[in-house]
Amino acid sequence: MNKHYFNNKQYFLRCFFKIFSLFLLLFSHSTSIYTKNITVLGTGYVGLVLGTGLAYFGNNVTCVDVDQEKINALNAGKIPIFEPGLEQIIKKETTFEKLSFTTDITSALQQADVIFIAVGTPQNADGTANLSFIDSAAKMIGQNLNNYKIIITKSTVPIGTGKRIKNIIASYANPTINFDVVSNPEFLKEGDAVNDFLNPSRIVIGAETEEALNVMKEIYAPLLAKKIPLIATDLPTAETIKYAANSFLAIKISYINEIAQLCEKTNANIEKVAAGIGLDPRIGNQFLKPGPGFGGSCFPKDILALSKTAENVNVKLSILEAAIEANKRQKEFIQEKIYKALNYELHNKKIAILGLAFKANTDDVRDSAAHDIIKGLLDKKATIKAYDPIANENMKKELPSITYSKSVYEAATGADVLVILTEWPEFKNLNFSILKEKMNNTIIVDARNILNSKTIKQLGFEYYNIGNA
Ligand code: UDX
Repeated sequence: MNKHYFNNKQYFLRCFFKIFSLFLLLFSHSTSIYTKNITVLGTGYVGLVLGTGLAYFGNNVTCVDVDQEKINALNAGKIPIFEPGLEQIIKKETTFEKLSFTTDITSALQQADVIFIAVGTPQNADGTANLSFIDSAAKMIGQNLNNYKIIITKSTVPIGTGKRIKNIIASYANPTINFDVVSNPEFLKEGDAVNDFLNPSRIVIGAETEEALNVMKEIYAPLLAKKIPLIATDLPTAETIKYAANSFLAIKISYINEIAQLCEKTNANIEKVAAGIGLDPRIGNQFLKPGPGFGGSCFPKDILALSKTAENVNVKLSILEAAIEANKRQKEFIQEKIYKALNYELHNKKIAILGLAFKANTDDVRDSAAHDIIKGLLDKKATIKAYDPIANENMKKELPSITYSKSVYEAATGADVLVILTEWPEFKNLNFSILKEKMNNTIIVDARNILNSKTIKQLGFEYYNIGNA
């Protein structure tokens, strides 16, 4: 086969693939007619899902990150996070050259009509949000402002950050060039983020000018066409909506966790209680699942940041503070169950932990309840063998001293107790005959209420769950 023939064949295959993909795009996309040049700063969780989603809407999106290795990996089609559905869309949009990844921030900023800031806002030691990445992004935007642009914050930022960004940009920018700052908080859930982006419950836009609001409406035209509700408001209100929403959900979880504790003392069944109150539309049936305490990259950080903001302006958010305390106590409550199951004798006891991610469908272990619970057990000199379908490697970085297993049954071998901390579907279908064979004691602590209490007990296991479920 000569080189020319090979090149031609490759060319035709490429063309065929592009035409075929174009068909897919045309028939599966809710493409916007208002194509924009969009730059997204930060390719973390939020930035990556956002950039991909905006490219899917038909915009020309450039995602920027300072991490050259990450950009190289993305350009090679390797996605740094586990998020169902994301990889396929990234592949499709990069093939179409609608989505690209770069470290060249200067040209990415200058070519953009619209810039989304999705950089990290890590937590300071005192619980406040660290805005250093936001500040340097604003400075770079100011320095590269070559025509009117809209700058949008997607990162979860303390109330008042929009104003701060505006001041920083203004202090570096050419004063003859106009710009607008907008707050457009995201409500993506890890593990379901692509679906959340394409089918959000609402779009919140905090804008100061009609022009900025109209451009935002054009960006979200494919969603507005689907009648997704829009809340158009000012900057501080949009920023507050994000914190108030996450805090409300966290409070709801802490509330049901405390009611579950009460159920154990009153012989009530928490699952039935949750179903019974959740059918009241004023309460709603979501986020009423008791567990080992909420975790993840958002709730713990955001509620602490909101409580600090309130403290700074002398407002007491006592319900929020109580929810934070209740979440700490919930982890201790689960630890106590494990101690009790082992007759308060943990020294050299082997504990199999199933689930390390802060919830199912993610490999994220940030602020995962598993982390604190395992640490408590290690302090009492227990031996831990842990297994998570995809989060072992991430937890290894935080807790290198425990043993990581490749399967449920490897973790269970020789265990005195088996503890379920994440609601992974594979833990709902355990093979109890194998477990009986492998475990030293047939004790199960189910901190997610995913097993059927009656069946497990009939099989001869000692079984503990939350709130008599
Ligand atoms: C959350 C918000 O849901 C999302 O809107 C926001 O944009 C980011 O923060 P996420 O952190 O991905 O999303 O997780 P989520 O599904 O909300 O769960 C958070 C924690 O609460 C997890 O640890 C989960 O296990 C726990 N949880 C959730 C419960 O314990 N019970 C519930 O009923 C629901």
